[in-house]
Amino acid sequence: MSDVADLTPSDDKEASGASPMSAEEVLSTTRSVRKRLDFERPVSRDLVEKCLRLAFQGPSGANSQGWAWVLVDDPATKEKMGEIYRGGMSDHANRPNKEDQPPHRDVPKIADSVMYLAENIQRVPVLLVPVINHTYGRKTTFQQASTWGSILPAVWSFHLALRSHGLGSAWTTIHLYREQEMAELLGIPHPEYTQAGLFPVAYTLGTNFSPADRSLSDKRIFWNRWSEEQLS
Ligand SMILES: Cc1cc2nc3c(=O)[nH]c(=O)nc-3n(C[C@H](O)[C@H](O)[C@H](O)COP(=O)(O)O)c2cc1C
Repeated sequence: MSDVADLTPSDDKEASGASPMSAEEVLSTTRSVRKRLDFERPVSRDLVEKCLRLAFQGPSGANSQGWAWVLVDDPATKEKMGEIYRGGMSDHANRPNKEDQPPHRDVPKIADSVMYLAENIQRVPVLLVPVINHTYGRKTTFQQASTWGSILPAVWSFHLALRSHGLGSAWTTIHLYREQEMAELLGIPHPEYTQAGLFPVAYTLGTNFSPADRSLSDKRIFWNRWSEEQLS
């Protein structure tokens, strides 16, 4: 990997003469891409690592950078990861305490797309499993926020970097029902390192994505004081 000076964007879009996306466009159109992942177009390791170097600019508690990034482009390993992913889907469907999670607003709308990704995830050129060590422990809200806050900003930056280079991903956590199985497959020390999710990495089929409806979130903006009326 080269140094920070190499972070200056010089992506395929610029090379092809198209104007680079503004920060606002990248932030408002980075979607979960499932059906529009290009399984056929190879993704170079250099490009993935370039996007990761951008992600590494994200914050971590006390600048600990206690993360690690396991990238898989080996077809046989991806095949096994797909099996674990689908196993996690089945565990989720059969979980005993279904009411312990919030209702999924968009499930009927996205179910087809979620299923498509599950069936095809092994065909994605690169699969990423980011992990974080237990620097802060897990018990208190402070510890949890500090642990997850020390990797998830970088993971999201990675998504934004992918988008700005014509690639896409989808945030997924479902395989974590089988986190240990994935750890054994990939040789990740378990439980010392915790997996943050599984992220497909591929070029997108077309680059036109739209801002999503987040109007519900407008009600969640409070100035100076919490308001129950505003929430209802
Ligand atoms: C914590 C988290 C877990 C998610 N897990 C999955 C998953 O396991 N599989 C999947 O296909 N999508 C998953 N998603 C994607 C969400 O369904 C998606 O972000 C949401 O529908 C909004 O769509 P958008 O990302 O395109 O705006 C997850 C997203 C988050 C933030």
